Amino acid sequence: MYIFGIDIGGTSVKIGMFEDTFDLLDQWEIPTHPENLFEEVADDIKAHLKKKEISFAQVFGYGIGIPGMVKSGIAISCVNLGWQNVDVKKEFSKALGYDARVYVFNDANIAAFGEASYLNSKWDSVIFITLGTGVGGGIIFHHEIVEGANGLGGEIGHICIDDTYHFTCGCGKTGCLETVASATGMIRLAQHYKDKLSSRLNFNSKLAAKDIIDAAKEEDPLASHVFDEACQALAKAMANLSVIINPDAFIIGGGVSNAGVFLLERIQKHYLNLCLEQAKHTKINLAVLKNNAGIYGACAYLINKKHEVENNGKC
Ligand code: BGC
Repeated sequence: MYIFGIDIGGTSVKIGMFEDTFDLLDQWEIPTHPENLFEEVADDIKAHLKKKEISFAQVFGYGIGIPGMVKSGIAISCVNLGWQNVDVKKEFSKALGYDARVYVFNDANIAAFGEASYLNSKWDSVIFITLGTGVGGGIIFHHEIVEGANGLGGEIGHICIDDTYHFTCGCGKTGCLETVASATGMIRLAQHYKDKLSSRLNFNSKLAAKDIIDAAKEEDPLASHVFDEACQALAKAMANLSVIINPDAFIIGGGVSNAGVFLLERIQKHYLNLCLEQAKHTKINLAVLKNNAGIYGACAYLINKKHEVENNGKC
């Protein structure tokens, strides 16, 4: 049977078509239009199925990742898409035109599940952190996604960390980790220091986090300072999480994680200064699935559901 993994981002929707053996058969992207999203994704999938002569009966289900807070299939709050209390499960089934099996997750939660499943490790608990436009977080505790009472479980980007800059976060609060440690957070910090520290960065053109990281690699004073502060803020959140969850591993993904070892070593340095002795052995790894973690996670989750259906006839 086939399974679809759908990862909704602010600018594009990633769609992956899998075999229920965890094999990715095909993947593609379409632009995100929040107003018509369900119809556009459903129409696109229907066209794809038609082209391949596959019927709905051959599709086990659909797993959808949303860049916001999700509880029991409802997108409680999704600032990036301008959604409040959207019943994703219901709307997407309606757009498909049949009573499909639809599971809905926070994007980072399902990416965490993807990484943990793909690595097929003996790890019991994993914390996944994605550094992109925002800071996403996913906690896998005893092999289960932590969604929490109101869908806030694992919203690591909104941990209160900063007491200096008071930048306003997309969620409306100030001081969130996301405001200083995401790609946009680094740019915000760079703007803040622009007249205070020397730099070769060009503030007249559109600055990207990659420019800051590349300059930090070359020891540019401003970029080095910003990069270090972002990593320190993240490491502080991780040290705090280590005494709450005490995970086997932290996994770092998202666009910023393309900085690789340079990023990992800096986070590690600060983390080791901040965490308890017993948490020093906790692994800090880079994500292996990169941008595909969400669609793989959705597939892994649905494969588990399929086994449940086969074993006890319920889902
Ligand atoms: C949202 C999270 C999301 C993350 C990454 C944050 O702004 O609050 O729910 O996981 O961005 O998309």
